[in-house]
Amino acid sequence: MKFTLNSRSVAFDGDGQTPLLWVLRDHFKLPGTKFGCGISMCGACTVHVDGEPVRSCVLPVSTVGGKAVTTIEGLSSNRSHPIQKAWMDKDVPQCGYCQSGMVMAAAALLKTHPQPTDAQIDEAMTNLCRCATYHRIREAIHAAASKQ
Ligand code: FES
Ligand code: FES
Repeated sequence: MKFTLNSRSVAFDGDGQTPLLWVLRDHFKLPGTKFGCGISMCGACTVHVDGEPVRSCVLPVSTVGGKAVTTIEGLSSNRSHPIQKAWMDKDVPQCGYCQSGMVMAAAALLKTHPQPTDAQIDEAMTNLCRCATYHRIREAIHAAASKQ
């Protein structure tokens, strides 16, 4: 099947039931998207499909045919996305494992809610962080929103 990956046209001719996460990591060698739980609970594997945040660990690659997939590697060319800048300014990550998924979820939130309230942030940011960086994540989302 063919789809767009980080603004490039690509093709994958393996099993269509393969979760998108493994196609991204193993076939296209994009390791930024992480495996956490494999059951759509933690959000470490979050990418965008046609701009929507999705959990790629449970998404068969066959469902993205003709669509645009964006991973953390394609969010910006030089870490210049407002969310990435705010993440660096606020020193959000601790171990970092969950953070690419967090950034992708937050970037999608700002598209639909350019000035999100705390309640909207809590509703959208259901990803899990073992290091409990939730407070800094909320601060960074507000900081990014204020610069838009
Ligand atoms: S690895 Fe996909 S939601 Fe946890
Ligand atoms: S920063 Fe360690 S799991 Fe989130």
